[in-house]
Formats: sequence, C-alpha cells, structure tokens
Amino acid sequence: MCGIFGIVYEKENPAMGAVLVKAGQRLTYRGYDSVGCGVFHEDGSTELRKDTGKIEDVDRRYSLSSLSGVRGVMQLRWATFGLPDQRNAQPHYDCDKNMIGAHNGNIVNTSQLQEKYRAEGHTVRSDNDGEMVVHAIEKHYDKGLPFEQAVIEAARELEGDYACVIGDIYTNRLFTVKMGSSLFLGVGEGFICCSSDLPSILDLTRQIVVINDGEFIEFSATSYTIRDIRDGHVIERASELSPLSPENADKGEFPHFMLKEIHEQPKKAADLLHFLEASREVDEFVNAIHKARRVFLVASGTSYHACLQGAYYFGKLAQLPVCVAIAGQFIDLFGDTVGPDDVLVCVSQSGETKDLINVVNYCKRKQVGRILGIVNVLGSSLMIRSEVHLPLVSDLEMSVPATKTFMNQIVMFLYLAAKLAQKRGLPGLNTAALTADLPRYIKETLTKAETPCRDLAEQLHAVEDLYCLGYGLCHPIAMEAALKIKEVVYSHCEGMYSSEFKHGPLSIVTEGYPILFLGTREDSGMLISHINEVTCRNGKAIAISPASPEIRKNASQMLELPEVPYYMVPMAATVVIQLLAYFMSVRRGIDPDFPRNISKTLTVD
Ligand code: F6R
Repeated sequence: MCGIFGIVYEKENPAMGAVLVKAGQRLTYRGYDSVGCGVFHEDGSTELRKDTGKIEDVDRRYSLSSLSGVRGVMQLRWATFGLPDQRNAQPHYDCDKNMIGAHNGNIVNTSQLQEKYRAEGHTVRSDNDGEMVVHAIEKHYDKGLPFEQAVIEAARELEGDYACVIGDIYTNRLFTVKMGSSLFLGVGEGFICCSSDLPSILDLTRQIVVINDGEFIEFSATSYTIRDIRDGHVIERASELSPLSPENADKGEFPHFMLKEIHEQPKKAADLLHFLEASREVDEFVNAIHKARRVFLVASGTSYHACLQGAYYFGKLAQLPVCVAIAGQFIDLFGDTVGPDDVLVCVSQSGETKDLINVVNYCKRKQVGRILGIVNVLGSSLMIRSEVHLPLVSDLEMSVPATKTFMNQIVMFLYLAAKLAQKRGLPGLNTAALTADLPRYIKETLTKAETPCRDLAEQLHAVEDLYCLGYGLCHPIAMEAALKIKEVVYSHCEGMYSSEFKHGPLSIVTEGYPILFLGTREDSGMLISHINEVTCRNGKAIAISPASPEIRKNASQMLELPEVPYYMVPMAATVVIQLLAYFMSVRRGIDPDFPRNISKTLTVD
C-alpha cells in the first residue's frame, strides 16, 4: 500500500531517473494511482515531477527517466487521504521547497495536523497525509534543531503506521523512518538506498539492513547511522546478504507475473517441503500447537482461505479442532477471551497486513496468546513480532493476486498437521513421501489443466455473476476461487459451502446460470446431490474434481483433476482455479498483475 524508494549517490548521476523508474516498476504492486519522482542536484537545486497513472504513463508524459540527480525520492500511491490527483501525488515539497519527502502508510491525525500547520503558517498544498510528514519535520528543522532531532520531534506529532524518506538541499544525505510500515535499507557500491520492499533493492544490491519499528536512519552514499526514534541513541547493525534472487522480479518468458508465479508452484512447494524437513522450528511450532488450550488460525483475504484449509487438515489428520478467524474481526469476536495458554497462528504473505498486525499488537499488549507466524517476507512486522516463525520460502511474489504464496500456505498446513498427527500417535501422512510426491502432482496438474482452463475461461469470461461451491476439503479452494475471480476478472463470484446453497441462494438459478463445484472423489455423494439441486433447475453445474464417472454423468460439464491422493486434491484444485481466473482476466483485457483499486500490502485498517 504505497511504495517509497530513496537513493543517495556520491556524485550527480545522469541515470537517476532510470533508477527511480525501475524501482517504481518493481514496487508497482504496492500502488498505482499516482507516481512521483523528486531529485536533488549537486548544485543544490531540485526537481519534482508527479501525476496520476501508472509509472510507465507518468514516465512517458513527464520524462521521469531523463532526470539526473545526486539524490532521488520516488513514491507510488494507493490513495487513502485525498483523491488520486496530481496535487495529492507524492513526493511533496516543504513550504519553501528546500525539502522533498514521501511516505507510505497512514497518518491518521491528518485533518488535525492540516489545521494546525496552516494555523502555524505552513503552506499546505494537498489533502494528502504524506505532506504532513514533510511539514512536521520542517517545522522543527526550521527552528534550528539538527535534522535527526527534528525527525524525533516530528514522530511525536504523527499518529498512525507509516514509513517515510526525506532529504533537504543542504547535505548529501536522506533520512528514512520506520513506524509500523515496512522498510529496508540496501547498501551498494557507491550508493545507499531505502525502500518499502526488497524487489526494488535487489536489482541494485543484495546487501540488506532490516530496520525495526521505531528506528530511523540517516544515510549518505557511503555510510548509514541507525537511531532509536524515542531518544536518538545509535544502534549498530551490519548489512546481511539477502537469500532472495533478483530474477524473481522479472517476468522472464511469461506475459504476466501471475502466470509465471503459478508456474513456479511445483518448485516453490518442493523448496518449502525440503526446508521444513530440515527445520528445527517445525518442532517448536508443532509443540506449541499441541500444548495450546485453544488454537486460532488468523489471517486476511487469501491467507484467511489458507487458514480455512489448515483447519480441515488439523481436524482431519491430527484430530485437532482449531478456530479460524478473519484478522479484522478477531479482536472484537475473540479478544476478550484469549488467554496466555492460547496459540495464534498468524498467516500473511507480506507480514505487514494491518488487520493482522493489530491482532498481534493487541495480544502483546494484553500479554495473552503465543504468536506463531507463517510469513513470506523476511524482516516483516509479523516475522519480527512472532515468537517462532516459519517462512513460506516462496521468494518474491510480484503479482498483486497471491498465488504461489497461497499454495505454500496450504502446503505448510498439510505438513504441520501431518507432523502433529505423528506427535499424537495418529495414522497419517508420511512427510517424506509428501515431500517426494506433492511437487510432482502440482506440476502434473499444471501441464494437464492449462488447455481445459483456457477453454473454460473462453466460455465463462463474459459472465458477470456466478457461484463457486465447495464441499469438504475443497471448500476453502472454492472460497479462494471466488476471491480470485472477483479480484482479477471483476465479475461477481460468491464462494460458499455447497450444502449452504439451498438455504437461500438457490433462488438465483435460472436457465444456464453457471456454478462451479469443487470436491474430492471421496465426497462425490454429496457433490452429486448438490449438483442435482442446480441442474434440475436448468442451472449449469461445472464440476472440478478428480475423475469420476458418476460426477461426470450428473454435472453439466466437468474439468477433471489428475489422480492425486485425497489430501492433495486442494493443491490440484488450486492450480485449476488460479489458471481459470488468470485466463478469464486476460480474455477480458485486464492486466491480472495489477487489478484496479487493489494493493498487495494493505497497511491500513
Ligand atoms: C488476494 C490477496 C489478498 C491478501 C490479503 C492478505 O489475492 O492477495 O486477499 O491475501 O490482503 O495479505 P497478506 O497475506 O499479505 O497478509
């Protein structure tokens, strides 16, 4: 949700604009309402170019790539405070245009600050909260405080979760602050840069400094100083070599990141399973779940659907009932009842989702619930706050819709449930066999399903309204299918437990009304019954399941999944619904990597 990037070179760099634009392209998944680049030249002059639109459009209109500079600041906006227009685009100048700054996140007391700063004589030019960051620092800097002290004073006035980058015309350095939103520092040869996320840094350098909340950094081209925002004391921390590969930030031979990432799934699942087989944290994780009074699986969106899948696996394999909770709802629904012996398994691709971080902060404040994290982005807020964390090992996910991280979330849950079953002396899955077989099954599905999914997408792409019903183990995948279709096709698609459909929604069925049905062969009895409730009313029931003559006979149409063992059917079904949503999206002329109105990292409430 908004992306920032800042870089300092030793000398004027004619390629500054190109570097900023590339960084912006790498962060596009964080926001694409507007974009801006501000540069400082060696002679003390500045330039600021910004407007609405995607980075390529704004670059075309304003020649962002042609900018030179010794320091640069770039921001991509996902609008919250103020319309997505040029005035509200970031970065912002201070009153006398001696500073350029930008932020991501939310300054929740923006309207009070606007009034206050205007009353104090500041020139407030926009409705945007990012501008408040600049005035807050300017206010104290202009009183003669050193820059670092002005940053500390400003942080006391700014309420909310944010990260920012800012510089002034006098010294060749930038300041960057982390207060609840993600931020990383990259240390290269002859430059240092900061960014809200790693894809924009890894191209330039893999030497990364993880920054914690409540820290700010002053950096030049050759050195950096980390300080605590409360009292300014200096914190020593060296950079580390990131294991992530910059190639993941490129589409390669694929037309979209979404398709590339769907195709990466067999390899990423194999990487995860090998990692888990060797990890010591798995035991710690499983022990904590085993001993807990109650286990909550907490997440938002797609990650929440993975938690639903986790609940099936824990229930069926390990005979452990768990409570699945939407992160945004957790505090209201369960907050008062959480005790010190409860475990919260918090799941997030980004590790920054505000709804989830609110839950974690709440539990920490009340000293209840042990926080276990399942997260893809290392160094993220969730990872830092977790007592134990397990990484998803999916590498960078560039497409806004989550695909390979969802797959690894459900693979992770299957593995953990199998381990817990072992611990409880229950017959279950052999994890070594899982590691050997599952990636192969995912690959086989990819190969077999591509053409049938393309054909089904051709049939369904123009449909504005449909249902996706799942039974048993495949219910969470039906929910995920509906979310993906809404997200990248812009059609209304409702996901539901298939036995619920008759309790009201059935009235929507008319001649040819399309409904996708997902289920295992073991559940075919129920699936067939629910299919018939639709077909006898002339609805079109499209079954997605492993081969079954009975299902085929009863459904209007069928897309067969390859032969995979019962517990792995959700993984095969996941590949199919992802490909279906992808092909429907492309057939409609939508760019599935960047669906309208959506940001990949949602750091607002
Ligand atoms: C949809 C999607 C979102 C995220 C949700 C939570 O494709 O990606 O629904 O799953 O915003 O994000 P994380 O997993 O980063 O907490």
